[in-house]
Amino acid sequence: MSEAVRAAWNRIEACERRSLADLFAADGDRLGKLSARLDWEEGGAIFDWSKTHLDDELLTAFEALAEAQDFGGRRSALLKGERVNTTEDRAAEHTAQRGVGAETSVEEAAQLHHRMHLLVDAIHRGVLGEIRHLIHIGIGGSALGPKLAIDALGRDGAVIDVHVVSNIDGLALEQAFARCDPATTMIAVASKTFTTIETMTNAASALAWLGQNGVGDPYGRVVALTAAPEKAVEWGVDETRVLPFPESVGGRYSLWSSIGFPIALGIGWDAFDAMLGGAHAVDVHFRDTDGRANLPLRAAFADLFYTRVRGCQTRAVFAYDERLALLPFYLQQLEMESNGKRVTMDGSPVDGATAPITWGGVGTDGQHAVFQLLHQGTVEVPVDFIASIAPGDALDPAHHEILLTNCFAQGAALMAGGNMAADGQDPARHFPGDRPSATILCDDIDPATLGALLAFHEHRTFANAVLLGINPFDQFGVELGKKMANDIEAGGGSFDASTQALLAAAGLD
Ligand code: F6P
Repeated sequence: MSEAVRAAWNRIEACERRSLADLFAADGDRLGKLSARLDWEEGGAIFDWSKTHLDDELLTAFEALAEAQDFGGRRSALLKGERVNTTEDRAAEHTAQRGVGAETSVEEAAQLHHRMHLLVDAIHRGVLGEIRHLIHIGIGGSALGPKLAIDALGRDGAVIDVHVVSNIDGLALEQAFARCDPATTMIAVASKTFTTIETMTNAASALAWLGQNGVGDPYGRVVALTAAPEKAVEWGVDETRVLPFPESVGGRYSLWSSIGFPIALGIGWDAFDAMLGGAHAVDVHFRDTDGRANLPLRAAFADLFYTRVRGCQTRAVFAYDERLALLPFYLQQLEMESNGKRVTMDGSPVDGATAPITWGGVGTDGQHAVFQLLHQGTVEVPVDFIASIAPGDALDPAHHEILLTNCFAQGAALMAGGNMAADGQDPARHFPGDRPSATILCDDIDPATLGALLAFHEHRTFANAVLLGINPFDQFGVELGKKMANDIEAGGGSFDASTQALLAAAGLD
């Protein structure tokens, strides 16, 4: 850690600690300073960070940290397509897919999108025969984004019925088979590397299922979405149905590339394009806004205040909207795979916490299951609430009113605390309060808003990484377990007594 970075952290730690109630009382313009609206085409959202402990003093201290970590330089390197992923010596060009990046990369992305658009149109027009279902096979970043987007945006009926299958547990694929007619089903094999064992095993089983159910040329039904097009061709996919994306687009950042094919096919090209548009608006905000006014950077200030200074080991995300039920799962990969690191960019050990554990669910369900701990447990958990002013349902407006009032009441209660006993004295009924939350209140959950929300979190994750001095774009932590599983599969490797006994019990030794 450089002297300047150490000094910045010391300054952050020395900031006066005041309660949320005091912070609101002390500054009549707190909302004006910590709640802001961001707009994109036909919509926008309020990003309210006023119920966190950020204040002028902390914001200034965190801005000094950003300066000491060369936030401006690292942001510009990211957006110019420089090799910011130093351990793998490559760029991280997901924003180029949305029109912000090196000129050549933006052009390449536009060409690849055009190619994908043509294929989507051809399938919709029936050029490949009647297609009514798509089984999208991928895992991690090759599945979580499509699954979230289809679930969030395809509820009013999709053009083509999409099933995302990720798990190697055959039950997942069998469940998709049960819902699809093989005569009208396409298979998308989504894998950046086109080597992932779960995906390739599921893909082979899906082809076998088509073949066993009367499809004469199963390979004729496959589309490959990959950064390794030569491997897809070698595996048997016709070149015309291979939709490549650049190596510089990371798996968990790949939704915007051809990995988004099931979104375009299932919900329509316009929806996919609107997602890119919403993300673009956030990219421009992130690129052109400095200091505390930069919303993803401001969110990262709060994140690090809680993890590094107050020792919070988790951060919860509760979407008060069924359409965003899968968002916590998406964010878990984005944040934990990116920033769950223990060394800095120069290889030295970090000297404090990096990413907290991201977890969450939907409101109001969570209130009746886990919120007890948020209000009265002994650990502090910063909570993000995400909600929409427009309802996703057409039922009695009472549904949405109850949903939103509960959402806002939770943030208020976490902050205010109090005692539920008539005499205000019962310790079991005491709420300590002063518990932080942030609220993102969207106009609606439409494609542009989903794109904007995801881009906001990508940039927030990047901003956290910059402030921590770590590389958010590699994921070596997933390799060791994979290697050991492969060793077992290949009949090799030597394992501890417990693992040997488990293998033997399952007949795998
Ligand atoms: O094992 C982790 C990981 O590499 C993720 O980073 C990635 O999203 C996932 O596996 C799937 O990889 P691929 O797209 O290459 O199949």
